[in-house]
Amino acid sequence: SWTTGNVIDEQVAAIREQVGDKRAICGLSGGVDSAVAAALVQKAIGSQLTCVYVDHGLMRKGETEQVEKDFVAATGVQLKVVDAEERFLKALAGVSDPEEKRKIIGREFIRVFEQAQAEIIADEGPAVEFLVQGTLYPDVVESGGGTGTANIKSHHNVGGLPEDLEFKLIEPLRKLFKDEVRMVGQELGLPDEIVQRQPFPGPGLGIRIVGEVTKERLDLLREADAIAREELTAAGLDRDIWQCPVVLLADVRSVGVQGDGRTYGHPIVLRPVSSEDAMTADWSRLPYDVLAKISTRITNEVRDVNRVVLDVTSKPPGTIEWE
Ligand code: XMP
Repeated sequence: SWTTGNVIDEQVAAIREQVGDKRAICGLSGGVDSAVAAALVQKAIGSQLTCVYVDHGLMRKGETEQVEKDFVAATGVQLKVVDAEERFLKALAGVSDPEEKRKIIGREFIRVFEQAQAEIIADEGPAVEFLVQGTLYPDVVESGGGTGTANIKSHHNVGGLPEDLEFKLIEPLRKLFKDEVRMVGQELGLPDEIVQRQPFPGPGLGIRIVGEVTKERLDLLREADAIAREELTAAGLDRDIWQCPVVLLADVRSVGVQGDGRTYGHPIVLRPVSSEDAMTADWSRLPYDVLAKISTRITNEVRDVNRVVLDVTSKPPGTIEWE
């Protein structure tokens, strides 16, 4: 019968057999899938696994620390953190177009990840032959079920990385659904903040700032987002909503009155949605008192924000994210 214990035992044995005395690499995104996949592989092969976390500076408040400290403490995993905030901000400077932002973030991410990979490969030790991926069953079905190798093309020549690297894939979650992955993660001792995390886009807060992405705007959005998350959690609503993007309309200003004067600040949008699979979604009917609390706190505590608005659009026609 299916138990998380059985799944873990089976996968640990299979991974040990597959990897032998070679090494493996795993990219951590801060999300549930990569975290659970990494924890499973860590349990199987220990220090033969190295995880890479690229800090692009677009994460929410506390999320990088969660990976760096809590995840490492819970798993004992060997982690290489690359602080690439400056590089991403530089690449994003002057860019407002959503698709362009996504392309830049994706491109820089691959470059930074590859560089970290090259450094790990260049370290003394057995060959790095394996790449761990948090592929779930629905991903396998969607993509036609193929498996085997990942052909990672080097975009530019980073020292020590062959032109065309081939890794064998380790995909320990291939037979699991999301709720099962969470159960496995819990059994492996991962913190709730990671295991129960709601979806968060790879490009992070970079696509939640309507307008140019700057450090100042990111810090502001991080504060507003942290307040919204804190109040939703305090109200016990985390399980009721699928996710709640918090968006900064950096290109919009409106007049307000705060303290003893007129202000000219930015609106923050709350986008709480309920959904089964993110393909369609409905806006969540949050209790008014929770919305009021979030609104009051954000306008009081976040500099330059004088208005909080609620997005009441379903998907379709609106997407969940604003960009
Ligand atoms: P949309 O905005 O298309 O989002 O309704 C659907 C779901 O996907 C997430 N999302 C992303 N996830 N990389 C990701 O890993 C991305 O580039 C990305 N864009 C959107 C979004 O948060 C929602 O859960």
